[in-house]
Amino acid sequence: MASGGGENNTQVYPPSSASQNGAYVTSMQQYKEMHKQSIEDPASFWSKIIEDFGFHFETPPNRDKFLEYNFDVTKGPIDIKWMQGAKTNVCYNVLDRNVKNGLGDNIAFYWEGNDPGDHSTITYGQLLKEVCKFSNVLKSLGVKKGDRVAIYMPMIVELVVAMLACARIGAMHSIVFGGFSADSLAGRMLDAKSAVLITADGVYRGAKLVDLKKISDDAVDVCKTKGFDVSTMVVVRHLGSKSVDNGAEVNSPTPKRPCYSLSTNMVSGRDRWWHEIMEGVSDQCDTEWLDAEDPLFMLYTSGSTGTPKGVVHTQAGYLLYAATTFKYVFDYHPGDIYWCTADVGWITGHSYVVYGPMASGATSVMFEGVPTYPDEGRCWDIVDKYKVNSIYTAPTLIRTLMKYGDAPIKKYSRKSLRVLGTVGEPINPEAWLFYYHKIGDGRSPIVDTFWQTETGGHTMTPLPGATPLKPGSCTFPFFGIEPAVVNDKGEELEGVCEGYLVFKKPWPGVMRTVYGNHPRYEGTYFKQFPGYYKTGDGCRRDEDGYYWITGRMDDMFNVSGHLLSTAEIESALIEHPKVAEAAAVAYPHKTKGECCYSFVTLIEGAEFNETLISELRSHVRTKIGPFAAAEVVHNAPGLPKTRSGKIMRRVLRKIAKNDHDLGDVSTMADSSVVDVLFANRPDVNV
Ligand code: WTA
Repeated sequence: MASGGGENNTQVYPPSSASQNGAYVTSMQQYKEMHKQSIEDPASFWSKIIEDFGFHFETPPNRDKFLEYNFDVTKGPIDIKWMQGAKTNVCYNVLDRNVKNGLGDNIAFYWEGNDPGDHSTITYGQLLKEVCKFSNVLKSLGVKKGDRVAIYMPMIVELVVAMLACARIGAMHSIVFGGFSADSLAGRMLDAKSAVLITADGVYRGAKLVDLKKISDDAVDVCKTKGFDVSTMVVVRHLGSKSVDNGAEVNSPTPKRPCYSLSTNMVSGRDRWWHEIMEGVSDQCDTEWLDAEDPLFMLYTSGSTGTPKGVVHTQAGYLLYAATTFKYVFDYHPGDIYWCTADVGWITGHSYVVYGPMASGATSVMFEGVPTYPDEGRCWDIVDKYKVNSIYTAPTLIRTLMKYGDAPIKKYSRKSLRVLGTVGEPINPEAWLFYYHKIGDGRSPIVDTFWQTETGGHTMTPLPGATPLKPGSCTFPFFGIEPAVVNDKGEELEGVCEGYLVFKKPWPGVMRTVYGNHPRYEGTYFKQFPGYYKTGDGCRRDEDGYYWITGRMDDMFNVSGHLLSTAEIESALIEHPKVAEAAAVAYPHKTKGECCYSFVTLIEGAEFNETLISELRSHVRTKIGPFAAAEVVHNAPGLPKTRSGKIMRRVLRKIAKNDHDLGDVSTMADSSVVDVLFANRPDVNV
C-alpha cells in the first residue's frame, strides 16, 4: 500500500452518481470549502453544526470563548477547552431530544443475538424510560456526578442503558471489553477507583460460553487484595443462569435463554440482579446539566509502556464530533439502517454504535455474536434480514472472510448496502478490492476511516458522495482536522513525502487527558513534536495529496537504510492468491541491520512449501524493491490477535526470536496459536 504501484493500486474510484445523489457533500469543491471553514473559523463551523442537529444546550456556548487551548508543551501545560461554560447533557441530546422531536416510536436498535432467531427491538421512547430507571438505580446506589462506573458487559441493550444512565447523571462510564481477563478488569477498576461494577451472568460468543460474573468476581477479589473494595455489582441475567445466593440455590424467574450449566453466585450485600433492582423504580429522572468540559467517559487503551491509559473524553466536544463524523462519513439519512460490527467495549462501539448514531436518531443493528457463527455467511444474513444500508467493520474481518471465498457472500443479496466502512488498521488493497467488488458488488464506496481511541471520532476519511477513492488510502482530513507530515526532527514536510502523521490544532473530539496522569498525556502525544498532536502512525502523502497510513511508527524497520513499514510488506504478501493473512516483523540481520520476518496464513487447502516461499519472496521484491525481501517466511495457521482483532506483533517478534518469555498475553483472543507457531518455527540463518 504505502509503496503504491501495481495496476490495482493506481486506479481511482470516483463517487458514483448514486452515491452523490442526495448526499450531504456531493463534490470535492464543497468538501474543501467546508474543511477550510472548519479550520479557519471553528466557532462558526461548529455553531452551524449545533444548529443543524438542533442540539440542546441549557446554557448556549459563548461564541467568543468557543475554543481555548494550548497545544504546545514548551509554552505550558496542554489544555484544550471547547465551549467551556456552556451547559448540556449528552444523554438528553441522544434520547430526550429525539423523543421530543417525535422519534419516540422509531427503533433505536435491532438487537441480534448470538444465535440466529434470538432477536429483539427497542425504540427511542422505550430506551429513554429504561435509562431513566437505571439512572435512578445508580443514584440509589450512591453514584454521583464525577464517579467512575465500571461496565463489563456483552453486546446487549442493557449495556447501552447503563452507559447512557451514567451520562444522564454525570458519572463517567469506564467500559472494559467483555473479553478482557479478571486481572485486566481489576487493573482498570483500580486505576479508575470504580466502586460500582455492572456486568452480566454470561454470554455466548459463537459456541463458546464466557462466564462474565465469575471473571467479575475474580476481578473484585484482585481489587480487594490491593486494598480497594468494590461496593456493588449489578448483574444482568442475560443467559438465565442458575442463581445461587452465597452457596444456596434461589428461585429465579423463568429465563429467556436457559443456561443451567452456568451457576451465578450472588454475594449478598454486594451483588444485585438488574431485573430486581429495576423493579418498581420510576421511569422519570431529571437531567444533570453539565459543563461542556465535564468528563463524559474514560476508556482504556494500550500504551507502549505496557500499562493502559485511561483516555478521557468530555461532553459537548465529543458529542459534536461523534455526531458529525457519523452523519457525514456514513452519509446517514433518516430511515437508513446502519450496522457497526464493533463491540461497544472499544472506542468504535462508543462513537459508532452508541453516541454518533443516536445523536442522529438513527436505527442501528446491535450484534451480540461473532461474524462467522453459525457459519461464514452470518454477516450477509444479518444485512439481508435488516436491509442494512451501511456497514462498518475492520480489515481483519474482511481478510477472514476472504479465506472462505465468494460462496458464503453470493448466497445473500446484500443489495441494500450503500456505504462500506473500515477501521482499525491499514486496509491492504487486496482486502479493499474484495470488500468493494465481492461484498459491495462494485456499487458502494468504501470509507477507510483512520482514527484512534484518543481522537474520539474519524480524523482522516473519505466522504461517500465526494471523495474519489484510492484502495488503501484514508484519503483526506475530516472537518476540523489539520494534518501534517513531519520528519523525526519535527520538521514539516511538503508535497510528496513520508514521515510521522501529526495534527496541528485541536478538534472537538480530541481526548483531554489521561485519567489521573496529565503528564503521561503530554508526554505521549505532545512532547516529541512540540506544537503538534502526535498520532504515532507513519504516513505517506502522494502526488495527489492523498494520505496513506503506513502503520504504527513502532512497527517501522530499517533494512539497509531503507525505512519500511510492516504494513507494506504484509500488503504485498497478501496479494498472493494462496495467502489469507500475513504479518511482518523486524528481525536482526547480520549485514542489513534488520530484515523482514513474515508470518503467513494460507487459504484453506493451500500447501506451504519451498515453491510458495520463493514465490512470496520474489513477489515482495518486485512489489516494493529488492531490499524488502521477505527473508524468513513462517507458516502460521493462526496469528496471535487481541480480541478486537489486532495482530499482536510484539508476540510475533518474540516467536521470531524463539523467545518463550512472551510477557502479558491477557488480551490475546486465542493463545493456542502461539504453541503452533513455536512448533512450526523454521531454521533461521540470516
Ligand atoms: C490504527 C481504533 C490505518 C492506527 C479506532 C491507529 C488505522 C490505531 C486505521 C488506533 C485506518 C485505525 N488505517 N490504520 N483506517 N484505523 N488504525 O485506538 O494505527 O483501537 O493509531 O482506535 O489503529 O487504534 P484504536
